[in-house]
Amino acid sequence: MNHENQDLKWYEKLSHKIEDKMQFFIWVFIAALIGGLIEIPPFFLMGEVKGPVSITPYNALELAGRDVYQAEGCFYCHTQMIRPFKWETDRWDRNREYGPEPYSKAYEYVYEHPFLWGSKRTGPDLWHENSLNNNASWHKQHLINPQETTPGSIMPKYPHLFEEPIDIEQIKANMRALQKIGVPYTEDDIAKADELLKGKTKGDALVAYLLKLGRDTKQK
Ligand code: HEC
Repeated sequence: MNHENQDLKWYEKLSHKIEDKMQFFIWVFIAALIGGLIEIPPFFLMGEVKGPVSITPYNALELAGRDVYQAEGCFYCHTQMIRPFKWETDRWDRNREYGPEPYSKAYEYVYEHPFLWGSKRTGPDLWHENSLNNNASWHKQHLINPQETTPGSIMPKYPHLFEEPIDIEQIKANMRALQKIGVPYTEDDIAKADELLKGKTKGDALVAYLLKLGRDTKQK
């Protein structure tokens, strides 16, 4: 291209110059390459993310409940991340249990595979559910018929979950897979799965999972 004869502003000339002959493409490629390289080291530091309290991995029953949470798509309506805004921390730390910075922090998610942050709050955030309501029988009743515990609720009913058994071997296999990617499950934890899951339904597991949310991250 030849723009020399045109009456162009200096920045237009500059723009034409760098867009000529693949130059722009090459510079963008180099910039993206540098950006990509900078992102690599933090990836290996994930295990080093530490906070003021220690997080324990989900036990077999809670982990089974987490599977149900994903399979039922609870994350379509619920988030699991409290943002650093006063109106959020006031609402989800009303018992003042999560220290001076009561919003979600990176270390809290160290054993989350995959993250279940969600993006839409048709229902409330659940990341501190243990603090807000740790009554297991309320949760069971709410899942069976939300309109009964919470008149006017638009949450769907999940009574079938309290009739469906858990595939224990699948949960043990999941624990082994998580072990490989850094969740510190011991052989003992995996062996205990039989005992923890015996006779339990998917609904029981889901309630156990809900009660684990926000339990370890309390600071008092
Ligand atoms: C269609 C959207 C929708 C889906 C799907 C949904 N919920 Fe809800 N959920 C709500 C709404 C709205 C509320 C608030 C009213 C109420 O408490 O029932 C709520 C409330 C809750 C609460 C009470 C939270 C609190 O602190 O008051 C829990 C716990 C909960 N949901 C868990 C679940 C689980 C577990 C699933 C998946 C099995 C699920 N929800 C699926 C919409 C939904």
